[in-house]
Amino acid sequence: LRLSGDETGGGIGSISAPQASLAKPFLAALAGERQKTPPIWLMRQAGRYLPEYRELRTRAPKFLDFCYTPALAVEATLQPIRRFGFDAAILFSDILVIPDALGQAVSFESGDGPRLDPIGDAEGLAKLRHEPNWERLAPVFETLDRVKADLPKEMALIGFCGAPWTVASYMIAGRGTPDQAPARLFAYRHPDVFARLIDRLVDASAEYLRRQFAAGADATQIFDSWAGVLPPAEFERWCVRPIKAIAAKVRAETPHARMIAFPRGAGAQLAKFAGLAGIDAIGLDTATDPRAAVAALPERVTLQGNLDPLALVAGGRRLDEEVERIMSGFQGRPHIFNLGHGVVPETPVDHVERLVARVRGQRST
Ligand code: CP3
Repeated sequence: LRLSGDETGGGIGSISAPQASLAKPFLAALAGERQKTPPIWLMRQAGRYLPEYRELRTRAPKFLDFCYTPALAVEATLQPIRRFGFDAAILFSDILVIPDALGQAVSFESGDGPRLDPIGDAEGLAKLRHEPNWERLAPVFETLDRVKADLPKEMALIGFCGAPWTVASYMIAGRGTPDQAPARLFAYRHPDVFARLIDRLVDASAEYLRRQFAAGADATQIFDSWAGVLPPAEFERWCVRPIKAIAAKVRAETPHARMIAFPRGAGAQLAKFAGLAGIDAIGLDTATDPRAAVAALPERVTLQGNLDPLALVAGGRRLDEEVERIMSGFQGRPHIFNLGHGVVPETPVDHVERLVARVRGQRST
């Protein structure tokens, strides 16, 4: 674990609450502070590329049971922290616990992604609960509470949910698809039904995040992994507006809430996230030029990203060069180092070690 302090101050001894939160470099970056060394965490930092995760995973054959067993989820959350000493831990869970808690059958076929009982029409929507079954999600909050207690104080705890569009796209298709065509077609053909589904997900997700903050999350990330498949008007309606609504609802009840949005594939539409009250940072995908993001988003927005997960698989000199390019691309702006999408299972563990060392190496120069 990193023990050296940095320019965000803090220090040990008697620290008051606000200082204690700024002693976490990740939270300082979210608050808009520029740091010589950006804090680092990785999307999908827990998971199959870690041998200790694969071992732990055998203890619950069904993936959702694994997510809903606090002892296992706490351990999976902490595994990458122990190994790499990231600046933030992310709750081990999945975005599809929300459809599950709304009463849609969700399972994970090993190696083949999620399977849901697809929603085909208004009748399918009518079968869902209006509010998530919070009893079912209680283990998630318990996991946050337990991780929080175990986490070194300089590390932050991130909660998350899927954005309504991305979650709805799985609920409609019933599985992963290359381009979310089933949900896009559904939204064109049945805009009113689709809007009702999105509204329900906005309400459920906002309350879910609010409860995650109450359970100890320092920040939350909203994953809109499929934002990039929508044309402009649909993007505005199904990506931007729902995320804005969630941020407003969460902020209304949890004024100190720190939130990150990850609209993967937003590309030229990134600027639509410029004015979103309540969103402190934007996660950038691999294809985004850091300079384009710097130009599209105002100073007060922290930028997160955006190393290609495959450069991390490749390692070596090309990894070092990409790290360098990204660090200099975001220089002068509050930045959180991350990938542009999740860690893939083929990633060698020593490449992750090298990445963390490279990012932090500049601290001493
Ligand atoms: O370390 C972390 O980032 C925390 C845990 C986390 C998981 N999923 C664990 C997981 C997070 C934040 C997610 C988010 C998630 N889940 C997203 C958004 C981010 C993205 O990748 O775009 C999406 C779209 C999902 C839905 C999902 N879950 C899919 C499509 C799959 C199958 C593909 C795959 O990578 O296996 C999952 C399963 C899943 N979620 C696994 C893990 C560790 C693998 C399951 C296993 O161990 O058998």
